Amino acid sequence: MSKSYKPRLRHFERKGSQQHVAEVDQYLYNQVSPTHRFAIIGVGTIGKEHMRVATLLGRARIHGIYDPEKRSLDVAEVEFAKISSDALVRYPDLDAACADTDVDAYFICTPNYTHYEVLCTVIKTGKPIFVEKPMATTVADAAKMVEMVNSYSSFIQIGLQYRYKRQYVEAFHEALERRSLGEIKTISMSEHRPPFLDKVGQWNKFKEFSGGTLVEKSCHYFDLINLMAESEPVRVFASGGQAITFTDFEKDGKASDVEDHAFAIVEYKNGVKANFTLNMFCPEFEEEMIVVGDKGRLIAREKFYYHQQKPSTGTIDIELGEEGPSKSSVVTYPKLIEESGHHGSTFYEHIAFMDQLDGKEVRCATAEQGLWAVIVAAASQRSIKTGQPVMIKDLLSETS
Ligand SMILES: NC(=O)c1ccc[n+]([C@@H]2O[C@H](COP(=O)([O-])OP(=O)(O)OC[C@H]3O[C@@H](n4cnc5c(N)ncnc54)[C@H](O)[C@@H]3O)[C@@H](O)[C@H]2O)c1
Repeated sequence: MSKSYKPRLRHFERKGSQQHVAEVDQYLYNQVSPTHRFAIIGVGTIGKEHMRVATLLGRARIHGIYDPEKRSLDVAEVEFAKISSDALVRYPDLDAACADTDVDAYFICTPNYTHYEVLCTVIKTGKPIFVEKPMATTVADAAKMVEMVNSYSSFIQIGLQYRYKRQYVEAFHEALERRSLGEIKTISMSEHRPPFLDKVGQWNKFKEFSGGTLVEKSCHYFDLINLMAESEPVRVFASGGQAITFTDFEKDGKASDVEDHAFAIVEYKNGVKANFTLNMFCPEFEEEMIVVGDKGRLIAREKFYYHQQKPSTGTIDIELGEEGPSKSSVVTYPKLIEESGHHGSTFYEHIAFMDQLDGKEVRCATAEQGLWAVIVAAASQRSIKTGQPVMIKDLLSETS
């Protein structure tokens, strides 16, 4: 039986009706042996998602975990035991995790303000590293990380996995590969959602720890806009603030200071103009990207009616008028994959990481792309604060 990786029929493989098929007869249901071992640094919400998704994909096994919070470690162990019978090493500190020669790659899933410092330690291992988004809370730290990566002998992938959401995979294919829309002129993106969830230490309620809402969360959308624009941002103007959410939240005598709504306009070197709308006091989740070129319009949308516990839906519409065929489609991943995290995008991010480990060329989020997402986000936040447009070259000259 072939041991090389191929997509599996995971649904059937897990069905009660197929459990009588013995291992010797499993071909389509054949589980490949994991070829790599991961250590997860920070096992909160996303650290556990990476443990779950890596295990579902099956090309790597989770070997060890480190977190300074006992409760996070305890819960991660309990959750992991539900999906794997593998033993899990619990490291006493980061140095012990980095000293483990059995580990092939590290996932940094700690709060934003710790990414730079944790990376400075993990990078000494010389091994492949995955760093969650945003790569840092400031442009200066993100720029230093890019410099570190540029002279690194291995690779670093950033957790900007929204590019693997089903509706954006199709959007990029239509707009940038098929070029269905002709020359792109405008991009409008929005995220409407409920407030940030509770976090360990509530780091996401404070700019000091998260970088601010546009850095912390909207970096995903600025990454998508940057990719779609295929150019460098030159000027950003934004308005926003904290209208409702966490206005009464305090920790250690400090009031929350993160934006819960924003409107940002981004101008690119090639003439593309983009806008981004954020609202974080909505009952349900919805995001949308509208791209218009000289031949047509594209609308990529995701809806997630959380309160109804309905599965999320992804759709894409192409409107070409007399220029060609228009179409509307529902886009999906297999249910098991969609439900594994971030509507399936984390699963495909893991495939990219594994492919890189196997020496293949992939189009994953690089440190430089992670930096550009932080740059647009930080420029938006500065513009909100000053009420003035921000020239990207001025922002960058402060860090050089
Ligand atoms: N890519 C995505 O879609 C996505 C989604 C959620 C979170 N994130 C990012 O992942 C990171 C973690 O977010 P979360 O939601 O899991 O937060 P969380 O608060 O749920 O978990 C963070 C965990 O890190 C631990 N931690 C804190 N400092 C640490 C350190 N120095 N070393 C090791 N562990 C440490 C905490 O104890 C906690 O258990 C953030 O950067 C966040 O922006 C990305």
